Amino acid sequence: MELNTIESQDVGTATERQPAAASAAKKVFVKTYGCQMNVYDSQRMTDALAADGYAPTDVIDEADLVLLNTCHIREKAAEKVYSELGRIRELKAERAGQGRDMLIGVAGCVAQAEGVEIIRRAPAVDLVIGPQTYHRLPDVLARARGGEKIVETDYAVEDKFEHLPQPRRAEVARRGVTAFLTVQEGCDKFCTFCVVPYTRGSEVSRPVAQIVAEAERLAEGGVREVTLLGQNVNAWHGVGENGEEWGLGRLLFRLAEIPGLARLRYTTSHPRDMDDELISAHRDLPALMPYLHLPVQSGSDRILKAMNRRHTARDYLALIDRIRAARADIAMSGDFIVGFPGETEADFEATLHLVREVGYGSAFTFKYSPRPGTPGAEMEGHLPEAVKDERLQRLQALINEQQRHFITSLVGRTISTLIEKPGRRPGQKVGRSPWLQPVIVDEKAGEIGDIIDVRITGTGPNSLFAETA
Ligand code: 5AD
Ligand code: SF4
Repeated sequence: MELNTIESQDVGTATERQPAAASAAKKVFVKTYGCQMNVYDSQRMTDALAADGYAPTDVIDEADLVLLNTCHIREKAAEKVYSELGRIRELKAERAGQGRDMLIGVAGCVAQAEGVEIIRRAPAVDLVIGPQTYHRLPDVLARARGGEKIVETDYAVEDKFEHLPQPRRAEVARRGVTAFLTVQEGCDKFCTFCVVPYTRGSEVSRPVAQIVAEAERLAEGGVREVTLLGQNVNAWHGVGENGEEWGLGRLLFRLAEIPGLARLRYTTSHPRDMDDELISAHRDLPALMPYLHLPVQSGSDRILKAMNRRHTARDYLALIDRIRAARADIAMSGDFIVGFPGETEADFEATLHLVREVGYGSAFTFKYSPRPGTPGAEMEGHLPEAVKDERLQRLQALINEQQRHFITSLVGRTISTLIEKPGRRPGQKVGRSPWLQPVIVDEKAGEIGDIIDVRITGTGPNSLFAETA
């Protein structure tokens, strides 16, 4: 299943960054929409561009290249990109008036899905590049600088990861003590609401040696916590160093051996691919954090069938029982879609029921949005927005209540915290709990990168306050 989406974010700041190549003249501004995989991809593109002489900047006005790394998962995501392109077009025109060039590139899932349509709708765009061809970016840019309009959305035959440069150690260190690492990409599940199999292509697992080498590099740069990414991350498989076929559970054990890597996570999983070995990893591997994002989407078997999820609500609940038997303190997270075509009030109530049965630590809720080209878009029984809105609110209220309950249950407990960065207020640092909440501690509690035990003294809306245990 897909990864969680976040609001957009700009990748990196201009501080301490130097391109590997000689001239520091050119600058790139990257804006990232969507899921964690896009955040990871933006970093890899930034690394490839650094090798090509582009220094990253977080000031769009000084950019020679503006790159939007886009998300296509829901309607609004693509619309936001088009309105952003409108603003950037004006900037480009202004710059042209001053005799300076500015290239505009669109990457990511909107690029893959819309292709040449983007240049038709936003003619100021110079290049459109899909997720499977990022390693060709320097080449594409050279052509774009020559005045060509380029749409590069083939599924490349070569392995892009082999051709993308690794970040330099200083860059890894600058990015912080937590990192993403894509181990699997694409999806063969074809849930009827989802555009991902069309934008990210079919399921591909990266080889063990490549993943281990990248994780080692991250650890050498000071990374303490790695989140393995994949649209269907628990479908990852590969031939291990011992010549045997490995699944994600085995891979996690291997990565836990890397000196410095203290915490591991993976996201996002499909319930059908939670095998015994992975469940055992939750029991036997202390480095594997007790938090699992396992989307179910709906609690109604009829809707699950229409969604082509290939499991029932009962299958999902039974799976969670097995996971909790392996790791009692695991916090469950999930994704839900309300208002899928044909969803009745009774179907929706089945979802509320499932949420009550599970008791989530956190969860993400979405209104169904028909995606062109997916079977769901063609189905009968699309629901009015007002019905979707009302269901979303009810589900959200229940989930908020569960989230609140989970967070307050931590007060008074001693938990491990990875100190991540300086706090917003002077005298504070911010850490990360095993369940992903920010933990506010005194700045003297430890150095960035330390993992310390703290006692939770109180809560904010979605954060924890703590003192050294
Ligand atoms: N409409 C609404 N939500 C969707 N998601 C995926 N496709 C759609 C869609 N067409 C949600 C799913 C998925 C999450 C990343 O986004 O819940 O797990
Ligand atoms: Fe990530 Fe693409 Fe899915 Fe958006 S559509 S969440 S960018 S995989």
